[in-house]
Amino acid sequence: MTIQKKLDTLHRLRSESEQGGGSERIRQQHEKGKLTARERLDLLLDEGTFVELDRFVTHRSTDFGLADKKILGDGVVTGYGRIEGRTVYVFSQDFTVFGGSLAEAHAEKICKVMDLAVQNGAPVIGLNDSGGARIQEGVVSLGGYADIFLRNTLASGVVPQISAILGPCAGGAVYSPAITDFVFMVRDTSYMFVTGPNVVKTVTHEDVTPGTLGGADVHATESGVAHFAHDSEIECLAGVRRLLSFLPGNNIDSPPAHPTDDPADRRDEELLTLVPDDPNKPYDMRHVICRVVDNGDLLEVHRDFATNLIVGFARLGGYSVGVVANQPDVLAGVLDIKASLKGARFIRFCDAFNVPLLTFEDVPGFLPGMDQEHGGIIKHGAKLLYAYAEATVPKLTVITRKAYGGAYDVMSSRHVRGDFNIGWPTAEIAVMGPKGAAEILFKRDIAAAKDPQGKLDDLVADYREKFAHPYLAAARGFLDDVIDPRETRPRLISALQTLLTKRQSVPPKKHGNIPL
Ligand code: HXC
Repeated sequence: MTIQKKLDTLHRLRSESEQGGGSERIRQQHEKGKLTARERLDLLLDEGTFVELDRFVTHRSTDFGLADKKILGDGVVTGYGRIEGRTVYVFSQDFTVFGGSLAEAHAEKICKVMDLAVQNGAPVIGLNDSGGARIQEGVVSLGGYADIFLRNTLASGVVPQISAILGPCAGGAVYSPAITDFVFMVRDTSYMFVTGPNVVKTVTHEDVTPGTLGGADVHATESGVAHFAHDSEIECLAGVRRLLSFLPGNNIDSPPAHPTDDPADRRDEELLTLVPDDPNKPYDMRHVICRVVDNGDLLEVHRDFATNLIVGFARLGGYSVGVVANQPDVLAGVLDIKASLKGARFIRFCDAFNVPLLTFEDVPGFLPGMDQEHGGIIKHGAKLLYAYAEATVPKLTVITRKAYGGAYDVMSSRHVRGDFNIGWPTAEIAVMGPKGAAEILFKRDIAAAKDPQGKLDDLVADYREKFAHPYLAAARGFLDDVIDPRETRPRLISALQTLLTKRQSVPPKKHGNIPL
């Protein structure tokens, strides 16, 4: 055979491998409002950078008539490419081939790119659209999933792992995305559940649809399984690109710096008036964050889940930071089970990937009540504490108003190795709020008074004067300084610059035992 004929064969096979399940199935995929595996990669990666691996891989099964149904690539497109010029490894399941179902060869392809990502220190992005374990291959498919789960676990904390759910994701298949660092979903076209509507109906007699059981909004607001929910695949894939812009490729690198035109010495007059004079009035902490960070740009993670705590990525003087902030606008910014879980997971991600933590604090304490106590607020709140305490990345803390009780200790205080802790003059740092404290300390005096309410008011005012300010904490060195709120940005940037060379460690151990 001449070289020309050999080249013709090569071109034919390469072109065949790009057809997936064929034009009819591609049409059906589009009809469902979904893009194909390759269209998604085109949107995700910098133009022209995708390099495909294993396009000629096929399955080796013969049961259930599979011997005659070999499709090049076996239902998943894998390889590497670039996002903003930086290498990422990708796999994109092709629903047009056996419903994107996962079997031996399909799993081997995914494992290969995961291994390369870890070896070469680059993120892995999985685009999931699959009917789950390929039924015809039986236990071999289950083995394929387990091979991926193991790699997800071993890669955790080594390279960022991101999952976009762009179709069905059910059964044990959900556990691969669940181990990854961030889960993106798309409204109306994606869902995730361990057991589907039919089984739910049989077992619990509940009538549910895939969307009400495990759609994007459910997971982004109720369960917290999804960190981001988008209206379209185009938005979703753009969201993945934006997230990566804040992250390093691996746990040894630093996040990429993005030089900014927002001046490092910018004072902000608005910051003087954002905290209301009345300590019981809410305000939106998002405004504080956005007036401090570069160009007001905050990428919120878990935006609609546990909204009493804000977490997300931003930049200070061009450097990525992970922002954790109590939100006085929701439940007065109190810490509850969901907020603790949200915060702890985010902090541990930032710590694993060298992203400094910037905490804004206005917290009245942990949420009281039967629900919370019986739900385990003790162990869940402890996760947040543990995450802050073990984190060795630079930790900067601004107390804007309340820092009461255990929540003061937890929220990146000096005592849990906060590096730069400052308060605004509006900060109130004490064991508890003035009213609660006066009622306990002066219970008898109040009961004996002619005018108990008047007496309580006086005692509250007295306590507020004595304790509800930042100067006792500052006198102990628990705060490094009390600052004019307008100077927050310059002060934080200058501190962060000194902390970029920070080195701190934890005692050698196999791993800690976070209270799960
Ligand atoms: C083999 C599968 C498949 C699977 C879908 N297909 N899922 N083939 N194994 N798991 C095939 C279908 O037979 C069909 O082929 C094509 O993919 C498209 O599927 P449709 O059903 O036509 O598509 P749609 O109507 O959109 O429905 C999608 C679906 C449904 C909801 C995902 O296909 C479905 O329920 N599939 C089974 C899901 C499932 O139970 N999987 C196993 C779960 S257990 P043809 O040739 O007819 O067009 C699991 C455990 C993982 O995954 C364990 C890890 C530990």
